[in-house]
Amino acid sequence: MSDTKRIVLSSDHAAIDLRQAVATHVAAKGYEVIDIGPTTTESTHYPLHGKAAAERVASGDCDLGIILCGTGQGIMMAANKVPGIRCGVCSDTFSAAMIRAHNNANMLSIGARVVGEGVALEIVDAYLDAEFEGGRHGTRVDMIEG
Ligand code: RB5
Repeated sequence: MSDTKRIVLSSDHAAIDLRQAVATHVAAKGYEVIDIGPTTTESTHYPLHGKAAAERVASGDCDLGIILCGTGQGIMMAANKVPGIRCGVCSDTFSAAMIRAHNNANMLSIGARVVGEGVALEIVDAYLDAEFEGGRHGTRVDMIEG
């Protein structure tokens, strides 16, 4: 495992069950999981949860974040509004590895209504097991940050 230790998790109501499966999986891989909820399936607003998780990463409290909603898209958009956050939605393992290796993504978003649990956990593995390659990719990531 890399030096990464703390991973914040959050979702909206559409992804409660998958978030809990991801939490169990990530903890079993040896990471410290900071699950900031929500804990009920009551309808809620994905921007609140994306922003809250992103702020944990941007502040340095957590090293990485994994966020989920129905499509993964809305909560990703909210997270990316927080300065310093680079979050990508992934529905396949190649993209999950590449957003870490090439884009140094500090957050991963998954759509619980898009992929099943088995694929989602493989996506999580691909993301967490990849490492940023730096070099020319670092130059490009710096250009994103402006
Ligand atoms: C909630 O119904 C749904 O809109 C949300 O989970 C997400 O898919 C938004 O991007």
